[in-house]
Amino acid sequence: MPVGFEQIALVGEKVRLRPIREGDAPDAYRLVDDEAVLANLAWDGPTDEAEIAGTYRRWVAEMKAGEACHLAIESADKAGLIGCIDVRFPRHPQQADIGYWLGVPYWNKGYMTEAVRLVCYLSFRHLDAARAYATVFVGNNGSRRVLEKNGFSVDGTLRSHVFKRGQFVDSWFLTLLRSEWDASQGGFSPRYEDIVVAKGE
Ligand SMILES: CC(C)(COP(=O)(O)OP(=O)(O)OC[C@H]1O[C@@H](n2cnc3c(N)ncnc32)[C@H](O)[C@@H]1OP(=O)(O)O)[C@@H](O)C(=O)NCCC(=O)NCCS
Repeated sequence: MPVGFEQIALVGEKVRLRPIREGDAPDAYRLVDDEAVLANLAWDGPTDEAEIAGTYRRWVAEMKAGEACHLAIESADKAGLIGCIDVRFPRHPQQADIGYWLGVPYWNKGYMTEAVRLVCYLSFRHLDAARAYATVFVGNNGSRRVLEKNGFSVDGTLRSHVFKRGQFVDSWFLTLLRSEWDASQGGFSPRYEDIVVAKGE
């Protein structure tokens, strides 16, 4: 397992992933403070831009400590955050928990499908994951489709999984095993990668 994410750059045909920084807060606030995005996230959203800046400052520290990998999504040909994707290992060092959102103007162009592909590559090839997983509110068919296009399948439904705006919401639980990824996408490599991860003893 890593003890610190020192440098992460992953570039595909459509998107580029790089570490979140505090200076991303204005772009993130403009795009995430949108009901179309927030309705599908466990997070209820920011109160203001300063809150996001504080969160991103904490995320930079988490990356340095190897606790989680928080990445900005940029389009491959233009700098500037258009969404976020992160991978955490909250329960076991080989269980990669993937979460993401994308600003509405960028939906349905294949961006998140590729971002998830790049993060699976990072998790299985570089971070020794045995399984990647994601939870998706039941009915969020676009997100489920993104994962299924990357080889994930639905293990089942987590009933009353998240308390969102006064009511419990069910979630689909989707997983991708390393053996499945090896068989279907093991030959995948990004257009460009530059990954430096500090390892423990
Ligand atoms: C879900 C989300 C990440 C998808 O990102 P995206 O870049 O638009 O996804 P892609 O373009 O790579 O792929 C979307 C796929 O879902 C399909 N899709 C989109 N909306 C759909 C819907 N309502 N029902 C069924 N399929 C849908 C698209 O047709 C596409 O599939 P295709 O390539 O087979 O045509 C984005 O809409 C988003 O950020 N939503 C709000 C936050 C969120 O839901 N985060 C995930 C929480 S688990």
